[in-house]
Amino acid sequence: MTIALIPGSFDPFHNGHLEVVERAANVFDEIVVAALRNPQKSDACFTLEERREMIQESLAHLERVRIVSVSTLLVNVAADVGATAIVKGLRAVSDFESELQMAQMNRSLSGVETVFIPTSSTHSFIASRLLREVARYGGDVSHFVPAPVEKRLREKFAGMA
Ligand code: PNS
Repeated sequence: MTIALIPGSFDPFHNGHLEVVERAANVFDEIVVAALRNPQKSDACFTLEERREMIQESLAHLERVRIVSVSTLLVNVAADVGATAIVKGLRAVSDFESELQMAQMNRSLSGVETVFIPTSSTHSFIASRLLREVARYGGDVSHFVPAPVEKRLREKFAGMA
C-alpha cells in the first residue's frame, strides 16, 4: 500500500492545498496530511490543533485521509506513518528553491523521497500569508479557502477590521 505524507504549515489550509491532497489521493492509496511547525515562520495565526481541526473539516469528503498535527521533524512523521513519499505542491519556480533544499535534506536524513505536484494556475497565487492579511482587514477570502476555514478566519479576525 502506498502512503503519501503531505506536510505544511497550513496556517491556514487553502484551496491550493486542497487541490494537492485531492490529486495525490488519485495516485496514492492513503494520504496523511501533517500540520507542522515551520521554524522560519514564528508568527503563527492558528494553533497546530486548530489547523488540524480545520483540515479535518475541509477533507471530510475524502476517504483514506488522516490528519495529524505534530511538533517534530518531518522525517520522524514519515517514519511513524510509513510514508512511501512526501508530497508537496509547487505553485511557481520561486517555490522550487526552498522545496528542493528541504527534499534533499529530508532524503539525506532518512532516505525518504519527495514528489512534487504542480498546482493549477488558478491556485498559483494563493498563499496562507496573503489570506491572513486579507481576512485580517475584512476582505473576502471565500473563493480561496474551504468553507470551514473561511468561518474560522472570520471568527479569528471578528471586529479587527
Ligand atoms: O507550508 P510550509 O511552511 O512551506 O511547510 C514547511 C514544513 C512545515 C513542511 C517544514 O518547515 C517542516 O518540515 N517542518 C518540520 C521540521 C523539519 O522537519 N524541518 C526540517 C526541514 S528539511
